[in-house]
Amino acid sequence: MSDNQTSTPPLSDLYSRHSSKWRRFDADVLPLHVAEMDFEIAEPIRDLIIDFTKRSDLGYLGPVPEVAKAFEGFAKRHWDWQIDPSQLKIATDVGVAAVEFLRANLHPGDRVVVTTPVYSGFFEWLKELRIEPFDVPLITGNHEYRLDLEGFERAFQAGHLTVLLCNPHNPVGRVFSREELTALAELAQRYGATVISDEIHAPLSVEKFVPYLSCGPAAEATGVCITSSSKSFNLAGLKAAFLLTQGPEMAAKTAKMPIGTHWRSSILGAFAMAEAFTSCDTWLATTVETIHENAKHLLAELERLLPEVTSHIPESGYLAWLDITNLGLTSEEIFTKAKVALVPGPDMGGENYKNFARINIGTSRAIITEGLTRIANSR
Ligand SMILES: Cc1ncc(COP(=O)(O)O)c(C=O)c1O
Repeated sequence: MSDNQTSTPPLSDLYSRHSSKWRRFDADVLPLHVAEMDFEIAEPIRDLIIDFTKRSDLGYLGPVPEVAKAFEGFAKRHWDWQIDPSQLKIATDVGVAAVEFLRANLHPGDRVVVTTPVYSGFFEWLKELRIEPFDVPLITGNHEYRLDLEGFERAFQAGHLTVLLCNPHNPVGRVFSREELTALAELAQRYGATVISDEIHAPLSVEKFVPYLSCGPAAEATGVCITSSSKSFNLAGLKAAFLLTQGPEMAAKTAKMPIGTHWRSSILGAFAMAEAFTSCDTWLATTVETIHENAKHLLAELERLLPEVTSHIPESGYLAWLDITNLGLTSEEIFTKAKVALVPGPDMGGENYKNFARINIGTSRAIITEGLTRIANSR
């Protein structure tokens, strides 16, 4: 195991953080639920925030070409993908980007395709818009997951022409292949469907990540990417994200959004995002490595402490999907008896997922062990 790890402060310091993760529950609960990492942020971002603050440079966000330029470089370096920087639009966060895109282009009562088990926020965004989810579950077997292309075709045939895709996939950590995404893009183009590709976890991919919009002309004609530095660089509270298109059809759809989506994001968030995508590759590589080692640690500790619980190594991100079928405790009981907060499987798509729970491993290995020990001791 490499010693080059992104550092996590001691638990006592973490409990004094002000974010939702550390404030939502009493101090006897170990919070391993919400998608925030415990790691210390990259130095260039910390310095930028201090510098802006020292100079009282905290006004409204104006034009910020720095973000498009930074992401253009990042996408080229990491994914060999040339974006069109002129088609990038700032939004407050990824949730706001999705909600405002959907509000501008769909109507209450429409249905949007989701692939359960999936990030619980998707259901909240749709509810806010009075849009119903239409589930095309991932095809699964023994901790392997892939897109159900026939299911997408059936949804399109039924007239449900918008997909909210999560790539890399929260909570199962899949990085979808170019073949799967190209096939989805071709189907979407054939039926006149739109794919909103939430790529917020992409920079944390161990496997080579494939941006939806890099999958050729059909993807460019049907896709909009929504993303941010907030997950991968741990900046969720700074509030900045963007939407990106690569062609006139989809640019026309983002043009329908209110211009307020730009002004309602934050100056610190936008400039921190530009910094993240410009000068934090070393921090990111160490963090990806740290999380990968943590995932191996999780599997080894499950084997040692909770052999009846299974999981798999995510191809991306710091969320791991636990199969708790044989544990004899529900996620609610894990919370009440073991005092460990996980995300219950049903939050990610209903009762079909009651035997699953999501754990956050973007922390120290000692904290992962502490969480599993608490669960093991409360069986
Ligand atoms: C897939 C996915 N999309 C969006 C979000 C939320 O992003 P934001 O805070 O930018 O709205 C999360 C948070 O966990 C997520 O996992």
